[in-house]
Amino acid sequence: MEHLLKLSDLKKEELLAILETGHDLKKKLKAGIETPYLKGKTLGMIFQKASTRTRVSFEVGMNQLGGHPLYLSANDLQMGRGESIEDTARVLSRYLDGIMIRTFDQEDVEGLAEYGTIPVINGLTDLYHPCQILADFMTIQEVKGTLSGLKFAFVGDGNNMANSLIVGSLLVGAQIAIASPKEFQPNQAMLETYGDHPDFLLTEDPYEAVKDADVVFTDVWASMGDEAEAASRKAIFQNTYQVNQALLAVASSEVMVQHCLPAHKEEEITETVFEQHAHHIFEEAENRLHVQKAVLLHLMGVPAYAS
Ligand code: CP
Ligand code: NVA
Repeated sequence: MEHLLKLSDLKKEELLAILETGHDLKKKLKAGIETPYLKGKTLGMIFQKASTRTRVSFEVGMNQLGGHPLYLSANDLQMGRGESIEDTARVLSRYLDGIMIRTFDQEDVEGLAEYGTIPVINGLTDLYHPCQILADFMTIQEVKGTLSGLKFAFVGDGNNMANSLIVGSLLVGAQIAIASPKEFQPNQAMLETYGDHPDFLLTEDPYEAVKDADVVFTDVWASMGDEAEAASRKAIFQNTYQVNQALLAVASSEVMVQHCLPAHKEEEITETVFEQHAHHIFEEAENRLHVQKAVLLHLMGVPAYAS
């Protein structure tokens, strides 16, 4: 594994190995065992969109691994004034040991990997959010003990979370049902690739998707970059694409709820459901730290972690 650009680049064994390293690093951190495997290494973190969890977890994680995180706001880089991805990649590769980037276009992330010579990690694009799905899967393993054979359901916008969840779920042998309005289905290319998979269901009906689900996921109706459409989207999503108690009543009685955060309570999820499942949702947020440290080790670390 050279980069983490999207989950479809990973083999099942690579994904499971990252999760295993994440569990191991979490145990070591809680036991006070130091893990300075990235001593002397620097991770550049380019942000073209806002972030709380991704920024803080990568920065703290890099410090815990003995390395150095370097925050780079895209607006302060020459990139923000039009310097090409190709040249940015070739320059940053001369200074850094890895790059994490949060941006709009997936092509920019792929371009950094193509023209640079160091590992690149996708910290969210309009199309994918692979780090989040890794953290979600780590959390599900903690609670359910497994991933394969479970039924996952996602309710809401067919956005970066939905796209990555489809790929990740099918990779680990889980069923995945997506309930989205027809105007906001997951990416068309994804549907062409996975649409006929026996473990994939796409519906406009949240009740059909959530029926007997072991884990229910949701996310905001308007993602970063969609702000101008927030009101028109709300008119389409509201009343139907909300994770509430009535909807969860048709799920498994042991249903777990995951939300990548930030949440818009009383929109995609009710405050009641959010608080009932807050222990898992905030564990999910914590696991961003552990699983991303695992990704860093697999990409930049000692040979024992290479996969
Ligand atoms: N879930 C997530 O990626 O959060 P941030 O936008 O705060 O990084
Ligand atoms: N779909 C959301 C996820 C935020 C972590 C967005 O892209 O804004």
